[in-house]
Amino acid sequence: MSRASSLRKLLKRHFALGLSILIAGAIAISAGHNSKGTASNAQATPPNPIDPLTDMQALVSLGARVAGTAATEKASQYLIDQYQKAGYETEIQTFTYPKFRDLGSSLEIGSQALEGWAYNGSIAGQISGRLVAIPNNGQPNDFASVPVKGAIAIARRGGMTFSEKVKHASDAGAIAIVIVNNEPKNVRGTLTTQPAIPVLGLSGADGDPLLERARTAVLTATLKVNTQKDAVARNVIAHLPGVTQPKLILGAHYDSVPGSPGANDNASGTAVVLAIARQLSRSFGQSQSPLSRQIWFIAFDGEEDGLQGSQAFVNRATPQFLSNLKGMLNFDMVAVNSTLQMEGSLSLKSFTRVDETMMKNPALRLGSSDHASFKSQNVPVLFFNRGYEPNYHSPNDKTVTPKLLVETKDAALQSIKQILK
Ligand code: BES
Ligand code: ZN
Repeated sequence: MSRASSLRKLLKRHFALGLSILIAGAIAISAGHNSKGTASNAQATPPNPIDPLTDMQALVSLGARVAGTAATEKASQYLIDQYQKAGYETEIQTFTYPKFRDLGSSLEIGSQALEGWAYNGSIAGQISGRLVAIPNNGQPNDFASVPVKGAIAIARRGGMTFSEKVKHASDAGAIAIVIVNNEPKNVRGTLTTQPAIPVLGLSGADGDPLLERARTAVLTATLKVNTQKDAVARNVIAHLPGVTQPKLILGAHYDSVPGSPGANDNASGTAVVLAIARQLSRSFGQSQSPLSRQIWFIAFDGEEDGLQGSQAFVNRATPQFLSNLKGMLNFDMVAVNSTLQMEGSLSLKSFTRVDETMMKNPALRLGSSDHASFKSQNVPVLFFNRGYEPNYHSPNDKTVTPKLLVETKDAALQSIKQILK
């Protein structure tokens, strides 16, 4: 574990223990109050036809929204529909980045089908041929000692790197290789160089008996390595017709990590941004707010793979577009923990109570998110979040505190009104 990530784990634990109140208290504004400490939004707002909780639940019901998967594409469609219903034009910004994924791989020997794991970096392929057992560990002379040319090699793990073993196999003319783990369970090996042939891992439990059979019997097999090399991901951009140069960008990532339905991280932020858009638009049952013509609303994809969506956005934006922005407001993990934290650039500091000492102390700094991509282009940023919580990046991230969605929306609206004044 890296130092940074163990520190984060430690912080996470402390935060879970309630230290968050103490640490965060220094930089907090309580939701519903602006920087001058006056009460929130006094004008009565008509009831919103769609509660942000409904949006959040709709996103969570799709399961983990991993960038590049069908669930995430469905989520993008949901967001497009909602923004359009609220009177906005939408654009999908598609981008692609290297991301390996095993879509389901196996080895079939007659009627027997064994589930395997594609090695990270393996090429895809469906290949039938003789299954030839490689003696020892799989040095070049081990491969030379058996008729492996045009066949599928099966070898045991160990003695050299995975990539070396694979190269010995392809140099000897094998058309694919199965690597049997040296323990009963399976392992997802990672190849450090691009292999010439597909590479499938089998557990020791499945692979050892097969390796023994292949030493004596003539077996034919079909290897299926079904992998994806790149992720195709989508940012959803919404704005009113004709708004080509916003003053503000409101953003939140809508993807999640594998295995987590990402309720707080970050269906919460996605729902808050959508709720702000609804509130400012004419669909809200009142006349359209002039603020709505100064804002672009963006749901970013691929954040969990390293801020991919916001990076793609800033990379494609012109320098002029970015320099005309007064700011980017990012919402990430905003519906668990009562203390709303706002980390931000000095130029936007007056719109919140931001304690610079916290921001300058790397030990207290929170996780990274999409605002960082804008900050690196010198766009002033504000980061709305409520800190770590026990369900962060876990399968249990499926519920939030509903009123915190509304409180975050109202706190953000106050900042927006002041920034655009
Ligand atoms: N939502 C988190 C960041 C976060 C954590 C914000 C805690 C507020 C409180 C974000 O989705 C995330 O997990 N970011 C990664 C880095 C990213 C570049 C993959 C992180 O912080 O480790
Ligand atoms: Zn997040």
